[in-house]
Amino acid sequence: MGILEVLFLIKLLRFMNAAADCSISACGIDDVPVRFPFRLQGNQPRNCGYPGFDLSCNNRRTTVLKLPHSGDFLVRDIDYRTQQIQLYDKDNCLPKRLLQLNLSGSPFAAVFHQNYTFLSCPTQFVMSRFPIIDCLSNSTISVLATSSTFLVTLLSSLCDVISTLLIPASWPVQHYEGFSSKLSEDLLLTWFSPDCHQCETHGGTCGFHGNASQEILCSNNSHRGNSRQVGILFVSIGIPVLVCACGMAISAYLMIWHARRNAVSNTQRNTATATVSPRPTILVMGLDESTIESFDKLVLGESKRLPGPNGSTCAICLSEYNSKETLRMIPECKHCFHADCVDEWLRMNGTCPVCRKSPSPAHVTSSNISH
Ligand SMILES: *[C@@H]1O[C@H](CO)[C@@H](O)[C@H](O)[C@H]1NC(C)=O
Ligand SMILES: *[C@@H]1O[C@H](CO)[C@@H](O)[C@H](O)[C@H]1NC(C)=O
Ligand SMILES: *[C@@H]1O[C@H](CO)[C@@H](O)[C@H](O)[C@H]1NC(C)=O
Ligand SMILES: *[C@@H]1O[C@H](CO)[C@@H](O)[C@H](O)[C@H]1NC(C)=O
Ligand SMILES: *[C@@H]1O[C@H](CO)[C@@H](O)[C@H](O)[C@H]1NC(C)=O
Repeated sequence: MGILEVLFLIKLLRFMNAAADCSISACGIDDVPVRFPFRLQGNQPRNCGYPGFDLSCNNRRTTVLKLPHSGDFLVRDIDYRTQQIQLYDKDNCLPKRLLQLNLSGSPFAAVFHQNYTFLSCPTQFVMSRFPIIDCLSNSTISVLATSSTFLVTLLSSLCDVISTLLIPASWPVQHYEGFSSKLSEDLLLTWFSPDCHQCETHGGTCGFHGNASQEILCSNNSHRGNSRQVGILFVSIGIPVLVCACGMAISAYLMIWHARRNAVSNTQRNTATATVSPRPTILVMGLDESTIESFDKLVLGESKRLPGPNGSTCAICLSEYNSKETLRMIPECKHCFHADCVDEWLRMNGTCPVCRKSPSPAHVTSSNISH
């Protein structure tokens, strides 16, 4: 008997147990553990879950959350302590779902918000230059999403605006962001009621107090259910070899469980502690055409080597430099950008987008740039 069979037995006993009380249930062996305030329809009685928190299993044994106005999402994880649920799209096209997301009528809310503009651009213009949303694009139309009003202005002559929406973000909102590829990451939502944060933090488990009551009770003995299942397993099989295998299986299961919990809480901790430092608003007029034109231009060679303190991506549009592209360099600080990106920028802001130095026309250099 292998570890998998033993795991399956534990799971089976768990399911049998769950039918009788409100202990943890799950759709598949490795799937998200479901308990209060969530309830697995068909596995746990109605009074095991809070209204609006019903989950179900699909035919591939994955946990599903149905949102009243936005349809089904698959559940990647639930953090009962921070009260966050991580969702994804079964067709792997979360941006498409975000365009239609409406959380009203559900107990869930966004952790962070961000305004995004979705743009529809001719594919031949976009080329490999910008991160496009593949699942919304085809050979003629490329769809991009950005939170930067500057980029929307920059592209407005070439692209159509599909829509601008306030969408849930799972990352802290930055002052300036280019085209986001983060929209394809999981959707992170939180809930505020029932509030079991304190209870879970102290190792307790929330549940309804009794059968018909809507009162929430924090109970202390969350591990009683588990030890009973293991007990049944020992009594019903009782073979020493199996005892050994069982021990290994449980520790393996616990290791996976802990690893997964830690991974989730780490992500959340990182998200939570990432600092948002709003940049001071500097009111500077843009530069005139002749000043902008006086700054050095360079055409990237095959080596894509750049002078000065420059990386391989343009800090304005966040796309990588390709050979033969025309860049412009700000004389004061030698920072380079795509010429069309920085020209538009300098018409609106008189400072370097990276270091905020103000280039002065008197300081134009005529250095020879090797590329
Ligand atoms: C969400 O759906 C509700 C109910 O259909 C509707 O009243 C509300 O206007 C919708 N909200 C948005 C932002 O579309
Ligand atoms: C999103 O845009 C709307 C309308 O332009 C604005 O009122 C709102 O404050 C913005 N929200 C955020 C989080 O940027
Ligand atoms: C690409 O998508 C656009 C808009 O969704 C559609 O109008 C167009 O016909 C599509 N083109 C091809 C080649 O599929
Ligand atoms: C669990 O029980 C102990 C002792 O009865 C108590 O001190 C502790 O506060 C309880 N924790 C919760 C979360 O109820
Ligand atoms: C809980 O309610 C169900 C039906 O609503 C009833 O059959 C059962 O006896 C109740 N259990 C307790 C412990 O009150």
